[in-house]
Amino acid sequence: MIIGLAADHAGKELKDAMLELVKALGHEAVDYGVAVSNEQSVDYPDYAALLAQDISSGKIEAGVAICGTGTGMAITGNKFPGVRAAVVWDEYSARMSRAHNDTNMICLGARTTNLHRAADFLKIWLETAFEGGRHKMRRDKIREIEKKNFKVRLEP
Ligand code: RB5
Repeated sequence: MIIGLAADHAGKELKDAMLELVKALGHEAVDYGVAVSNEQSVDYPDYAALLAQDISSGKIEAGVAICGTGTGMAITGNKFPGVRAAVVWDEYSARMSRAHNDTNMICLGARTTNLHRAADFLKIWLETAFEGGRHKMRRDKIREIEKKNFKVRLEP
């Protein structure tokens, strides 16, 4: 699978570690930054948007986004059509966000989740398949909402 990874300054260190894990698991990893050191503050929407845009267009198949809590990355990711981003904070949320929600962008908090736990959550997320069935019908409803809400509105 082609998997993109993005982080702000708070998530950079964990993102670099997750990138190595993604490669070790046999996937192709695409690094969307941030590339600067941990001390230099950057804005999480900039990096979440780079990643989410490529998930939305189909250029990459999945994304791993990391900031302090994961929240800003998820909020930004979900502004892009076709992106289903969720903050994952334990094994159950990692599994269910795939099984029931078919998420294609996992968001992790570097200030809430240590390296060992994050690696476990990411592995669970990658190994869990979407269950389909009634969950597909619900996912399709989200798509319909996107179609309605993301219409380009021309100013009068
Ligand atoms: C940065 O200080 C922090 O606000 C950011 O990493 C993230 O947690 C936002 O959701």
